[in-house]
Amino acid sequence: MLTLGIESSCDDTSAAVLLDNKKLLSSIVSGQDTIHAKYGGVVPELASRKHLEAIHPIVEEVLSQAGVALDDIDLIAATQGPGLIGSLLVGFSYAKSLSYVSNIPYVGVDHMAGHILAIFLEEKTPPFPYISLIVSGGTTSLFICHDFRRFQLIGRTRDDAAGEAFDKVAKILNLGYPGGPAVAEVAKTGSEEAFSFPRAWLEPQSLDFSFSGLKTSVFNTFQQYQTKDAVPTADISASFQKAIVDVLVSKTLLSAQQFSVDTIVLGGGVSANAKLRETMGDACYQNGFKLFCPHPRFCTDNAAMIAMAGYHKFRDGSPTSAFDDDVFSRSTLG
Ligand code: KG4
Repeated sequence: MLTLGIESSCDDTSAAVLLDNKKLLSSIVSGQDTIHAKYGGVVPELASRKHLEAIHPIVEEVLSQAGVALDDIDLIAATQGPGLIGSLLVGFSYAKSLSYVSNIPYVGVDHMAGHILAIFLEEKTPPFPYISLIVSGGTTSLFICHDFRRFQLIGRTRDDAAGEAFDKVAKILNLGYPGGPAVAEVAKTGSEEAFSFPRAWLEPQSLDFSFSGLKTSVFNTFQQYQTKDAVPTADISASFQKAIVDVLVSKTLLSAQQFSVDTIVLGGGVSANAKLRETMGDACYQNGFKLFCPHPRFCTDNAAMIAMAGYHKFRDGSPTSAFDDDVFSRSTLG
């Protein structure tokens, strides 16, 4: 079975062709970083216009790279939400049109399900159940993943997502956009102990997150310096990154202990962060947990994971989407 995946939830236009649930035949991700960089963040109107220009050539190219024609495709899977409404509408409407003209069924996919299942694009796959930490620009959530379709939300951020905090701190420190990789790069030469930024543990045993206080603390620290040149950017970045990673690792391990699940899987853009992967790896090793991390190209937004989630939704017997189905801005997964 061949699935054509389409993803356009934020500022990446992406398409992929997946054979069954195993072999990725082709995958293209076209980012818009250079367009949004000068604004320090994604400008929704610009993002949707760029998706509109990119979507058709990218789908044609991804089919050609896979060596298949549209007629060979058995299922179209497109991100239905959550995300920026204008951006989502481009990919989802395009999928509907393709489905209509070619008579190929299509399914709308929750973007979070894509992140949760991205690990199945790898050779080495985890057993069920597993704890899924999804850390991206739009969310920070913990799920127990019982099988390919049942995801139980057990913790979530009460304010900013971890990626949002990275992006905002990068903006404060003038490190450019996208913020996460920029902060991570600068942090390499800084001291993690230079600043004692707050960790929001919330109530005892809570699996929820909060990163807004941390972001404010970084801003207040930045304000203490008289000139830009005096700001210890590397030290602030390293100490901030350590504070985020400490909370993500501790709460993920706590969730595994609370629910007696011994496998942990990362997903979402921030899970490309080397410090998070390394610290989580050490903590899992010390506590006897197994850790699975997708390749960084499957952590950030991509259509391959959408094809994977769509494939399982379809095989599960879920009804295919109707032509009047709409996009949504909040995840359906809780
Ligand atoms: O999953 P994603 O591509 O898009 C969303 O669904 O949000 O995640 C994007 C987020 C951005 O906030 C970006 O700054 C962050 O992931 N990110 C990173 C790294 N690479 C991407 N954050 C920290 N370290 C990284 N290496």
